[in-house]
Amino acid sequence: MPLSPGEIDEFLTEGRALDAIALDVMTLALARRVSPDAPTFPLTVDALLDGLGCATIHRPLLRRWVSTLAAAGRITLEDNVIVSITNVRASTVERAWRGVDTTRAYPGYLRRALAQVPDLLTGELSPHTLMFGGPESAGGLDLSIAYAIYRDNPSSRMVNEAAGEWVAGHLNSLQRRGRIVELGAGTGATTESVVLATQHISPAPHYLFTDVSEEFLRHAHARFGDLVATAIVDIARPLGPQVHATGGAVDVVVAANVAHNANDINAFCAEVRAVLADDGLLVLIETSVERPQLLASAEFLMSGNEASHRPPTDARRTSGAMLPAVSEWTSALLCAGFTTIERLPHDDHPLAETGQFGYAARVGSAR
Ligand SMILES: C[S@@+](CC[C@H](N)C(=O)[O-])C[C@H]1O[C@@H](n2cnc3c(N)ncnc32)[C@H](O)[C@@H]1O
Repeated sequence: MPLSPGEIDEFLTEGRALDAIALDVMTLALARRVSPDAPTFPLTVDALLDGLGCATIHRPLLRRWVSTLAAAGRITLEDNVIVSITNVRASTVERAWRGVDTTRAYPGYLRRALAQVPDLLTGELSPHTLMFGGPESAGGLDLSIAYAIYRDNPSSRMVNEAAGEWVAGHLNSLQRRGRIVELGAGTGATTESVVLATQHISPAPHYLFTDVSEEFLRHAHARFGDLVATAIVDIARPLGPQVHATGGAVDVVVAANVAHNANDINAFCAEVRAVLADDGLLVLIETSVERPQLLASAEFLMSGNEASHRPPTDARRTSGAMLPAVSEWTSALLCAGFTTIERLPHDDHPLAETGQFGYAARVGSAR
């Protein structure tokens, strides 16, 4: 269904309200531990994180919180030492939640995540359980929250639909049976759009749905049946042997919200280029704005996964960001040999505010 301006506006307005709440909760969480029996200001960031009992795997994320809160004027840093944290009242946060419909999957999830931030950052609460352990999880995964994030909101609908159109356009121009490999396919939110857009292409493309997690492959079997083959592929390991072991030349690689898990996005793009045919297409979906609502919830999942246990070796090593910027993706794609890059939404589209973009990166003179 086409996106209406009203729908987009409502989504963006709610997103801003959720960011404001998340910023308050992050400030509150850091300030709360600076209590009479904890070290007082000035305080090094390490001492603050020790005081919070921050788990080792979440320390890079919490450092990111500190820089985000400093940029927002919530924390004052002098020579990298914290000299003050703004006072936020818990009642302000409670009041702000009253304006949000938390019966819906995503705001409800965010409310639960923000209420449990102290346990998330110590590692006592698994961010995986928080996202996938809902009432429908019996014996598997409850995908209702993940669908709200990766499939159903206006931003995801736009980039997933673009992904389907890009892939279908490319396969239609081939004189052979196309081969698609999707990396980190997870819930299948992007798969769904691509399968729908390519279903009338003859001969039907071969679709390899991959993820590092067996759970998602089981779900894909149930959801897509014979429309996809499945395999474990870990982007932290060399892609060529894993992808070529399962078939021949690859016409399209789809990677939706997974590539930031690579330690080095330059190496990742080069590896993808190497597995693609010489007229191949990479469809990438990535978010490049680390919004407070992400920092305080889903980003705990990123710091907890295996690939990111190793610190990044790309530009994030100095920026401290967990999500690469648009300019970093563009540069990585060009350096890897992709020659044309289309990106949606365009910068002047309202949905660009979310920071989530779809990229169609083509090799050679491919359309
Ligand atoms: C944020 S989710 C996005 C999933 C998916 N594209 C979707 O639309 O639902 C990230 C996915 O990447 C997978 N993932 C994480 N690290 C990975 C790795 N090193 N190699 C392959 N997949 C990975 C996760 O299991 C998860 O399914």
